[in-house]
Amino acid sequence: MFRVLSFQMCLFCTFFLFPLLHATLAVTARQSDYAPYFYDYGPGATHGNMALFSISEDTPVGTHVYTLNGTDPEEDPVRYGLTFEQGSREYFRVDPKSGNVTLVQELDREKQAEISALVSITDGRNKVAETVRIFVTDANDEQPEFQNLPFAIDVPEDTAPGSSIYKVTAVDKDMGSGGSVSYYLRSSPLTKFTIDGHSGVLRIRANETLDYETTPAHFVTVVAQDGGGKYKGQHQVMSSTATVTITVVDAQDTPPSFVGTPYFGYIYEVSLPGSDIFTVYAKDGDQGNPNSIHYSIMNGSDGVFDINSTSGCISLTTNPSQLKSELYEIRVKAIEEGRGEGPMDYDITTVTVRVVDLNNHPPTFYGETGPQNRFEVTMFEHPPAGEILRGFKITVNDSDQGANAKFKLRLVGPGRVLRVVPQTVLNEAQVTIIVEDTSGIDYEKGSTLTFKLLAIEIDTPERFSATADIIIHLLDTNDNIPAFTSEYYIARIDENSPGGSSLVSVTAIDPDSGPWGEVKYTIYGSGSDLFSIHFSTGMISTQPWATLDAEARSKYNFYVKAEDGEGEYSLAEVFVTVLDLNDHSPEFHESLLEETMVIGAPVRIEAVDEDAESPNNVIEYSIMKADPKNIFDIDCNTGVIKLKPYIKSMEIIHNITKSQECKWSLLVEARDRGSPSFSTTAVLNIDITEAIKARIVSYFMGLSKRPLTVFGMCVSIVFTLILVTICISTIMYCNAVKKSRVHPESNYIKVIRRAK
Ligand SMILES: *[C@@H]1O[C@H](CO)[C@@H](O)[C@H](O)[C@H]1NC(C)=O
Ligand SMILES: *[C@@H]1O[C@H](CO)[C@@H](O)[C@H](O)[C@H]1NC(C)=O
Ligand SMILES: *[C@@H]1O[C@H](CO)[C@@H](O)[C@H](O)[C@H]1NC(C)=O
Ligand SMILES: *[C@@H]1O[C@H](CO)[C@@H](O)[C@H](O)[C@H]1NC(C)=O
Ligand SMILES: *[C@@H]1O[C@H](CO)[C@@H](O)[C@H](O)[C@H]1NC(C)=O
Ligand SMILES: *[C@@H]1O[C@H](CO)[C@@H](O)[C@H](O)[C@H]1NC(C)=O
Repeated sequence: MFRVLSFQMCLFCTFFLFPLLHATLAVTARQSDYAPYFYDYGPGATHGNMALFSISEDTPVGTHVYTLNGTDPEEDPVRYGLTFEQGSREYFRVDPKSGNVTLVQELDREKQAEISALVSITDGRNKVAETVRIFVTDANDEQPEFQNLPFAIDVPEDTAPGSSIYKVTAVDKDMGSGGSVSYYLRSSPLTKFTIDGHSGVLRIRANETLDYETTPAHFVTVVAQDGGGKYKGQHQVMSSTATVTITVVDAQDTPPSFVGTPYFGYIYEVSLPGSDIFTVYAKDGDQGNPNSIHYSIMNGSDGVFDINSTSGCISLTTNPSQLKSELYEIRVKAIEEGRGEGPMDYDITTVTVRVVDLNNHPPTFYGETGPQNRFEVTMFEHPPAGEILRGFKITVNDSDQGANAKFKLRLVGPGRVLRVVPQTVLNEAQVTIIVEDTSGIDYEKGSTLTFKLLAIEIDTPERFSATADIIIHLLDTNDNIPAFTSEYYIARIDENSPGGSSLVSVTAIDPDSGPWGEVKYTIYGSGSDLFSIHFSTGMISTQPWATLDAEARSKYNFYVKAEDGEGEYSLAEVFVTVLDLNDHSPEFHESLLEETMVIGAPVRIEAVDEDAESPNNVIEYSIMKADPKNIFDIDCNTGVIKLKPYIKSMEIIHNITKSQECKWSLLVEARDRGSPSFSTTAVLNIDITEAIKARIVSYFMGLSKRPLTVFGMCVSIVFTLILVTICISTIMYCNAVKKSRVHPESNYIKVIRRAK
């Protein structure tokens, strides 16, 4: 109102009062002088008197913003002035001569939107001053400013999805678009919150809920941004941020739960009425804001237990001696104080309370006459598995009651030889010991077996126990048969060894005691005749009258039997090899040998050695002496004698003998390779002839030597003639009957042939 009034006054001054004044002055100065005056170009002009001049607040200091322009009627030079109200800032300065107005102070529309100034013009004599208003126009120089910082809000965790939880506000002092504000959240897309861009209302996202137990606080960054506007010639958008701290308030959404279950309590016989048995403890699941817990007994107390509803302490209300049961299972309920009894609001647990018998006695073993801790029995080894050792009469007893009288029995000792029955005992039982592994009860391994029988309480804290020694003295049985040290024995003996020579000693072991462990040896079998065995030492030797001859038999085998006093026995095999000695010398077939040698063909001498084995029966031949001269080579292995290669004709031989007779006399030797070596010699007479003569001579000589052969030849000639006759007659007969019979005919031939 005032502003409008002053503006009107200003207009009035300008358009009405000043011209009037001006006229008045003009009239008075007509004689002398007129006052200078400003040109007036109205609003928007950059020169004139600055009336209604508007300037943007972002104009830089030092800018030439206006030019005051006026004139003097007398055309005198004018000077300009610019002053401000007292106490007001001096925003502009004017150059008095040119009238150039410069900005000298930063403008801020938000602080001062309108500046009042006094502009003046003078020609040296008259001075005209005018009050003008200069308007400061807006630039986008302010950023949105959040109101009511800091943003900290508490949100209950059970707030419904989509609910609005807060409204942020930011103010931008700029005008127009630069002063409008919109909002958005600067955070991950997973955030549980959204904001309305216009209103600044912060919400929980439609499908999200808060959970104190996972995230008790959220920090959301809100950005407030203006619509943008000009600032120093450029488009500028300004924004600011603020953090909203959202504290999730725990809601009562988790039931209480008992801690440290399972619960066990004990009542002792000495407990007094009212004494504490056990204290249960439950915790509210809503730990951010826990409720106190109310405890109560649901059932199972049997009227003898009570619970303190605040502390959870269960106490006994009666004397322990009046309790009817040994075991109580008390069901206790924990409810959150001040909440309904929905299914999610409570927890139930069981407290097991046991009445403990303090007069605990250890278990005790009894024999037939009273308490006993050593039990002995004598029995034969190797009782059958599963047999009950009836020699033991053991009773075990625990005079307590209930759990205190419950104990287990264990038999501790070598291996899993024996088993005890029963394994678990209540109060009293007859102890039975059963054989499990009969091989472990062996006199040969030890004549005494020692075990410990244990009785240990199972369910008592003291674990009382008792032990007893179980001693078994074993009696031997003939449970072992003699066992040879080897399945077979090998012996070697030289032939010709004297009768009674030792061959090999066999051993069989029988660990049994007494006669059951005494071993007697015998031999039998087809090859055993020449041998004998010492019945106790097992030494095998040849019979006193027997000598062995490798040439007659070099291998013997037979069985040796080891027998204990009860006739239990085992067998082993004995192999005897008779080793050959060189006890024969080689021998030629005839002491005097006659041979006819055809030139170019060999003759052969042969000697035999009766020894059984090489090298004793391997013979080497040699020519010791030849008369008249050695014209022969002998193969030392085969005994084949040949003429030396250069003897190719009778002439050469005649040339050597210098006589007509070609008779040679050779002294040949046959020597075996045994050690020592034996040899024999013979004289071989050789008659050397030429081929044809030799054949005829030898043939007839052969015939005369072999009259049987001549007779055989005659017989065979006669027989052949008979055969031919039979064949011819048969063929003729066949032709006669051929037409009718074919098969019988062939049979007939067969018959005849067979008859032949
Ligand atoms: C002042 O105004 C007059 C008349 O319009 C003009 O001729 C003159 O150039 C102006 N002077 C300045 C400095 O603008
Ligand atoms: C006044 O301003 C005009 C135009 O900007 C310029 O030409 C002149 O030199 C200035 N005069 C002075 C004294 O600054
Ligand atoms: C919420 O989630 C369900 C299933 O994921 C979907 O069908 C529904 O459109 C969602 N609602 C909103 C508002 O996103
Ligand atoms: C105690 O209550 C539970 C649940 O109702 C029930 O199963 C149980 O048999 C009850 N025990 C006694 C001793 O009554
Ligand atoms: C329950 O226990 C609390 C804490 O120990 C005790 O202050 C209170 O007296 C007890 N209430 C009863 C009835 O014994
Ligand atoms: C036989 O001996 C004589 C003299 O010693 C010799 O001249 C002749 O050549 C010999 N004949 C043959 C066939 O060697």
